[in-house]
Amino acid sequence: MADPIQQLRSFVRQSAETARLLDVDFIPVYRCGVLDVTLSEIVADPATEQASPRIAAAPPPAMTAPAKPAAAMPSPTKPAPALRPPPPAKPAIAPLDGPRPGFEPWPAPMPAEDAQARSAEERHAAMAALRARYDREQPHQLFKPVFNNLVWGEGDVRAAVMFIGEAPGEDEDLQGRPFVGRSGQLLDKMIVAMGIERSSLYIANVLKARPVNNKFPVEAEAAPSLPYLLEQIAIVGPSLIVTLGLAATRMLLDTEASMGDLRGRWSELTIRDGRRIPVMPTYHPSYVLRSYTEEVRGKVWSDLKMVMERLKQA
Ligand code: URA
Repeated sequence: MADPIQQLRSFVRQSAETARLLDVDFIPVYRCGVLDVTLSEIVADPATEQASPRIAAAPPPAMTAPAKPAAAMPSPTKPAPALRPPPPAKPAIAPLDGPRPGFEPWPAPMPAEDAQARSAEERHAAMAALRARYDREQPHQLFKPVFNNLVWGEGDVRAAVMFIGEAPGEDEDLQGRPFVGRSGQLLDKMIVAMGIERSSLYIANVLKARPVNNKFPVEAEAAPSLPYLLEQIAIVGPSLIVTLGLAATRMLLDTEASMGDLRGRWSELTIRDGRRIPVMPTYHPSYVLRSYTEEVRGKVWSDLKMVMERLKQA
């Protein structure tokens, strides 16, 4: 079995690395009673490397009272602004409102409790059936992508959190997997910093095929892909969704509001069977990489901390 101290060391290093990348403070504080270790034992591995200066500068952990992770990793930026009234929503586009030419009608949804009670095997079977339907109907033909592989999505079909992006990029198209390129690497680091394993999430995109020049198509061309994502959400039944970037957020929440209005507060998605799923929009990792300012990084981290807090209550 892996040495738990080594595992903690590796986790702390990865989290500190992400904090450095996002340029937010990282002060690890551990809940005690599980492992009787001190911060210096966790961080400093005399056999291999030195603790990073940022970690070494951190005060010793509170070893008696468990601390909230959010409090343990304060952002240097201002706290998230007080909740604002929700931005005006567009009238619902009702993407599942009936058959489209060449598309099968969607069957009535299974009752929410039954959907939520499905086993992992049943969810895998439902996902495979949905994928088969997608392959028959190929809604991406509406935006005429040039692609090598469809990127369906991956992860735990019983995940508590779904991350949703807009469309595969070049690396994703080549590998057939979501978020594996540069922005995926940043996303991975954010996920590690949240204390979550990527394999415990479900990650998908609104579009399953790479659009020409990575340009998100107009709504009329993209909207027919949305019902498949909504069905993926219904199969997984996550407690929370994080949308990455404006295109995915607007499609999923059916709004034209700006990212400035949407991020930093909870929205809600109601799926066909009536389940209401909280959604936290945040900036797309590729936007973070392009606009690598302290302000943007701090906002993303603040959004993710809200997700971590809410997850604890779920
Ligand atoms: N950008 C996305 O929105 N999705 C991916 O899978 C990769 C990059």
